[in-house]
Amino acid sequence: MNHNNFTVEHMISMLEERDRIAPINEECNKFNIKNGDIVIDYGCGSGGYTKKISEILGESGKVYAVDIYELAIESVKKKINKYQLTNVETVLAKNINEIKDNVANIIIAIDMFHMVQEKNKFLKELHRLINKDGTLFIGIHHMTSEEVQRIILDSKLWEIQCEIDNCLKCIPIIK
Ligand SMILES: C[S@@+](CC[C@H](N)C(=O)[O-])C[C@H]1O[C@@H](n2cnc3c(N)ncnc32)[C@H](O)[C@@H]1O
Repeated sequence: MNHNNFTVEHMISMLEERDRIAPINEECNKFNIKNGDIVIDYGCGSGGYTKKISEILGESGKVYAVDIYELAIESVKKKINKYQLTNVETVLAKNINEIKDNVANIIIAIDMFHMVQEKNKFLKELHRLINKDGTLFIGIHHMTSEEVQRIILDSKLWEIQCEIDNCLKCIPIIK
C-alpha cells in the first residue's frame, strides 16, 4: 500500500476525531475479552480499540497495536502516554515477526481488510500469530460479507463461526 503522507495524516486525524467524539465502548463486548488475554489489534489506526481493550484487560494481559504506518503508531503512542496504558506494545507491520507464533488469544482486524493488498498472505500471518484456541474478528467494512467470506474460506486456514456486528468471527483450522 502506498498512500501519501497527506492521505495517511487525514485518515489518522479523522480516526482521532472519531475517538474523541465517540470513544469505542460496547463495540468491544463482542470480542469477549478475558483477564490475561493477549490481543492483537491489527490495523490499529489511532488506537481507539487498543485503548478500550487495554482498559478491559487492566493489569493482566497485553495488547499489541499493529499498523503499517508510522503516523498511526505515533498516534497510539500518544494515547499510551496520555492514558498511562501500561499493557500496550506498538509494532510496525514491517516488524511483525517480533511477535511470536501462537501468542494471541484474540486478533481483531477492524475496518482494514479492504486496505490489505496481499489478503492471503495477511490471513496466513494472522494464522501464525493466533493461539490454537484463539479467535479472529475480521471486519467486513467497505466489502460485502460474501466477498470477505470467500477470501477467508479460500485461504483454507480459517473456519468462519458466525457474523456479529459487521465482523466475521473465525477460528483457526488445525495448528
Ligand atoms: C480505517 S483504519 C481503521 C483503524 C482501526 N482498526 C479502527 O477501526 O479504528 C485502517 C487502518 O489499517 C491500517 N492498515 C491498512 N493495511 C494494513 C496492513 N497491511 N497492515 C497493518 N495495518 C494496515 C491503516 O494504516 C489504518 O491505520
